[in-house]
Order: sequence, then structure tokens, then C-alpha cells
Amino acid sequence: MRLRRKGDLLCTVVLLTAFCVLFYIQTHSETPRLDRHKNQRESGTERYLQSTKAETPPVSTTSATEPKRICQWLEDGQVRVTTSPSSDLLPWNYRQYLWQKDCREFNQIINQKDKCRKVHGEPLLLISIKSRVEEFERREVARKTWAREGRVHGLQVRRLFLLGIPSNQSALASWSRLLEHESRIYQDILLWDFQDTFFNLTLKEIHFLKWVDQFCPAAEFVFKGDDDVFVNVENIADFLVNANPKEDLFVGDIIYQALPIRSNRSKYFIPEMMYGPGVYPVYAGGGGFLMSGHTAKRLYRACKEVDLFPIDDVFLGMCLLRLGLEPLTHEGFRTFGIVRPSAAPHMQTFDPCFYKELMLVHSLRVPEIWLMWTLLHDPNLNCARKGSMKRPFRWRVKRQATSTSVRKLRH
Ligand SMILES: *[C@@H]1O[C@H](CO)[C@@H](O)[C@H](O)[C@H]1NC(C)=O
Ligand SMILES: *[C@@H]1O[C@H](CO)[C@@H](O)[C@H](O)[C@H]1NC(C)=O
Ligand SMILES: *[C@@H]1O[C@H](CO)[C@@H](O)[C@H](O)[C@H]1NC(C)=O
Repeated sequence: MRLRRKGDLLCTVVLLTAFCVLFYIQTHSETPRLDRHKNQRESGTERYLQSTKAETPPVSTTSATEPKRICQWLEDGQVRVTTSPSSDLLPWNYRQYLWQKDCREFNQIINQKDKCRKVHGEPLLLISIKSRVEEFERREVARKTWAREGRVHGLQVRRLFLLGIPSNQSALASWSRLLEHESRIYQDILLWDFQDTFFNLTLKEIHFLKWVDQFCPAAEFVFKGDDDVFVNVENIADFLVNANPKEDLFVGDIIYQALPIRSNRSKYFIPEMMYGPGVYPVYAGGGGFLMSGHTAKRLYRACKEVDLFPIDDVFLGMCLLRLGLEPLTHEGFRTFGIVRPSAAPHMQTFDPCFYKELMLVHSLRVPEIWLMWTLLHDPNLNCARKGSMKRPFRWRVKRQATSTSVRKLRH
């Protein structure tokens, strides 16, 4: 009896000591880590000063009231990952992603505050294009062709390019001067202070939605897409004639039942630890989609409550799911490019009469975008044959078939 009580006491003492030791280790390993955050935050700011601040025009730079850059210290590759032991199984860049994903607020370096000023009270269609600094030619061709600003079938079209800091700055040393001048001449550049990488496209998404909420709440409609697309803005305008900007609207090339890709050779590889075995929520292919201003504002709020996910279009699908909003397929959105239909082998995929029916085509090269726009706007273009034949061929792909082909394409 006595022996047992003694044993209990001993046990308690041992446990208490162990607890104290653990507590000590915890607090003492915390302190140097916090210090390191501080140091790295400072060196991050230095980098920022060197690379951009001196060369960014004061007119378009955001004011000091913007949120502080809270995550710069994480740039250093030496940050220890302590999330869970099993994350050791992940490739390094995924571990880093999980560690950094709560850092989701970055400063804006170039802004366009007057972009959405209303003209004649006409409905505004904001065209936003994800671009990277190096893709100057794609921006130029979009500016000169489909993404022209002005009036299109009763809508006022405005254009913006969404950019981050180039991850390899030595590839284009004059990048910040280039953006400064593009911004000055075209007033269509938004630049944020995060690295413009594939995995950071989700950051672009949430910063853009926030920007719309803050600087463009009056936009009736918002188009968002890649910089290698051709968009038939006239068709989009016609489609929007009957749409109510105060109601939910989200259309694009919708992908159903897509499975995460588990092959680590793919750009879209997602380890099971990041997304369990289930299918992705319904989402729109990131090549281009269209939404109402009302939906854009609701998405901004919904996305705040969703964990960052490295694939931006899937992430937006998660936000849509959170809103309980089902995106709609529109046959005119071809975010995986044109595949010559086997049912109509006579069709020329580069036939402007064919493109006349579409809203968006993805994965085009700069000369193709220019040529397509030019052909479509040729006053001598005669597509009467189509009308008289009463729609000889219709694009109608079964949902299941679409997602299979999408999966194939993505591998
Ligand atoms: C950055 O770009 C330069 C010039 O194109 C190239 O030589 C270098 O290898 C690139 N660095 C990385 C890390 O990709
Ligand atoms: C995203 O950008 C931040 C800030 O520049 C950077 O620290 C981080 O490494 C980037 N993440 C990825 C996955 O490229
Ligand atoms: C990819 O996965 C294979 C097998 O699971 C593994 O041997 C290889 O090291 C992985 N490659 C990378 C780059 O993680």
C-alpha cells in the first residue's frame, strides 16, 4: 500500500518535471525564431527598396496606409517546417507552401485608382488579365486588339494586367522601369509585392478580388483570364445584355469531377497531404471566365475563409462552393483550346467564321491572336454560309467527357 502511494508520487514528480522541461524548451526555442522573423523582415524591405521603390512612380504607388508586408521573412529558404512530422514526406516546395500559406496579404506597388470611373453611366466590363512581366508582347497584342478600352455593344470596357514581382529578376533587369512606363502610358498595370510564380497565382486571385471590392465596386461585370487568350468581347457584351449585374453570375469552361493529379512530374501535382482523395469542387478553367460584380464581391469575402490552395482555379472553385454557387458552362469558352472535332473534319480551326461564334480561345500565340482579331474585324468577312446552313455542327460536349479530356490534357 505504502509502496504504491510512493510510486504514484514519484510518477507525478516525473511528469511535472517533464512538463517543465518541455515548457522550457518551447519558450526558449520560440524566442530566437521570433528574432529571426524580425531580421528577415528588415532584409526583405531592403530588397524591396533596391528593386522597386526608387523606380516606381509616386502617382501610381499605393499610400502608406496599405497593410504592412507581414510575410517577407518567410522568403528565406531556411524556415523550419514544424506543421506535422508526416510533412517530411512532402517535396520541399510543398512543405514550404504549407508553411507559408497563412501569409496572404502583400502590399500593392502599382495601382490604378481611377480605372473604374464611370462614363455616361454605361455598364462597365472590367477585363483583368493575369500576366508576367516578361510577357510584354502578349500585353501589347491584347491592348491593340481584343482588350481595347472603350465602348463595345453598349458596355464600357476597361482593361487591367495583374502582375507580381518576377521570380528571376536577372532575366529582365529593367523590369521595374518597364512596368513604371507601361503603367504611365497605358494605366493598366496592377503590381503586388509577391513573387509571380505558378503557385502564387492564388495570391493574385485574392488580391485582385480585394482590389475590385476596394477600387472597382461599381463594375457591373468582371472578366478574368490569361494573357494567351483571344476573347470575343462583342459576343461577351451580347451575352451580358440580359444579365443582371446585381445577381450572381459565373460562366466559363466548367470542369466537373476533376481528380487531383498525383504524379509528381506534373505541374499540377498535388500530394494527398494537401488535398485528400476526393474530387475537386466544380471549378472554371483559369484561361478565362466571366462573373457579375455582385459575385466578385461575394467571392472576395468567401475566399477569405478558404485556405490557400496552389492551383488558383481550383481555389476559386472552393470559394464558389462556400457560397453554394454553381458556375455555369458556356460552350463559347474554350479554355483548353480548339480541338478539331472529328465529327466535322472539313472544319478549319483557324476559320474566323468559326471563331465568330466563340467567346474565348486559350493557348494562342501572339501572332495568332493578332491575326484572329484582324480577320474577325475585316469588313469583308462574310459568314453568311453559316446562317443558311442552319448550324451544321454544334459544340456540345457531355460533362463527363469534358472532364476526362481535361484530365488528359492536364497530365
Ligand atoms: C535567370 O535568368 C537568367 C537570364 O535569362 C539565366 O541565365 C538564369 O539561369 C536564370 N536563373 C534562374 C534561377 O532561373
Ligand atoms: C509567393 O510569394 C512570396 C512572396 O514573394 C514568396 O515568399 C513565396 O516563396 C512565393 N511562393 C511560391 C510558392 O512561389
Ligand atoms: C517522385 O516520386 C517518385 C516515386 O514516388 C520518387 O522516387 C521521386 O523522388 C519523386 N520526385 C520528386 C522530384 O519528388
